[in-house]
Amino acid sequence: MLARYADPAATGRLSLARPDDWHLHLRDGTALRAVLPFTVAQFARAIIMPNLSPPVTSAAAATAYRQRILDALPPHAQFTPLMTLYLTDRTPPEEIDAARESGVVGCKLYPAGATTHSEAGVTDVRRLDGVFERMARAGLVLQVHGEVTDPAVDVFEREAVFIDTVLAPLAARHPQLKIVFEHITTHQALQFVLGGREGIAATVTPQHLLMNRNALFAGGLRPHHYCLPVLKAEEHRRALLAAVARGERRLFLGTDSAPHARRAKEAACGCAGVFSAHAALELYAEAFEAAGALQHLEAFASHNGADFYGLPRNRDAVLLIREGWTVPAKYDYADGGELVPLRAGETLAWRLAARHEAAQ
Ligand code: NCD
Ligand code: ZN
Repeated sequence: MLARYADPAATGRLSLARPDDWHLHLRDGTALRAVLPFTVAQFARAIIMPNLSPPVTSAAAATAYRQRILDALPPHAQFTPLMTLYLTDRTPPEEIDAARESGVVGCKLYPAGATTHSEAGVTDVRRLDGVFERMARAGLVLQVHGEVTDPAVDVFEREAVFIDTVLAPLAARHPQLKIVFEHITTHQALQFVLGGREGIAATVTPQHLLMNRNALFAGGLRPHHYCLPVLKAEEHRRALLAAVARGERRLFLGTDSAPHARRAKEAACGCAGVFSAHAALELYAEAFEAAGALQHLEAFASHNGADFYGLPRNRDAVLLIREGWTVPAKYDYADGGELVPLRAGETLAWRLAARHEAAQ
């Protein structure tokens, strides 16, 4: 085990308990095989999003998907996929108990039409009150994509409107239900999570800590910076960064790494999603360092999520080294396609050490 250094900004070495990714898109088939090794190199566990096509709507489908992930693991990998169910208008309450028994940890609420593969999502959350009751009883976590889908609502306002019209009433109707407000992007979301009742938490992505909406238009249209919820104004980014830099325990790491082939991103109607799994921890380290808060990175990345989900913290460690490296311009993806990672071709200041380096 490594000695811990008092000032990682000065020594350039930062040891952390191995982190988990509490919001991840792994896809399926050859795409899964292309992206899984990146996550396995960094994280012990990840919450696997169920927005496949068709979506993972039953305990049986979640079990089968978990097996396909395990089958795709590199040799000797130690990695636990934590499975979720995709809620629809027709999710039977009985499915919740079956899900719990099969090891599913939560259910994802996608408002219908909010994002990639959400067509089958929920049109009116009040129809699911029976399901939420079962979830609260079974101890399953509700993971929420928090945006309204009304095309009349400005795309930058959809998260804030969702809180008032959907999420706050839902959280009040189900006071025992554990809720993760996924990939929050606004100070309104922060206020809701940090000022709310017990049992509410949020994930924060690297892109929403590092970039504001100007990054979508820097020198031209930047499809690889487009994700949902969309990047917001600088005041929101600052509020998110300040909150994680204070060490807020209700906030934790969830990359929302969401791979799409280059041809699907660089298109007349480009897909939403930023791929960040290749450098997840390095990107978060950059954000925390910029805020002078590297001492809070470990709790954010490795403690808060496990504590909220009621799972044990990981016992092994990873090592971050302050040593520049250049992100490749692209990685191979499914069907001969290419994946353009966040910060493609740019230099990152931190590097995650390989397992044998961390053990030295
Ligand atoms: C995600 C995807 O591609 O599956 N895209 C994204 O922009 N985050 C879906 C999602 O989480 O909204
Ligand atoms: Zn997502």
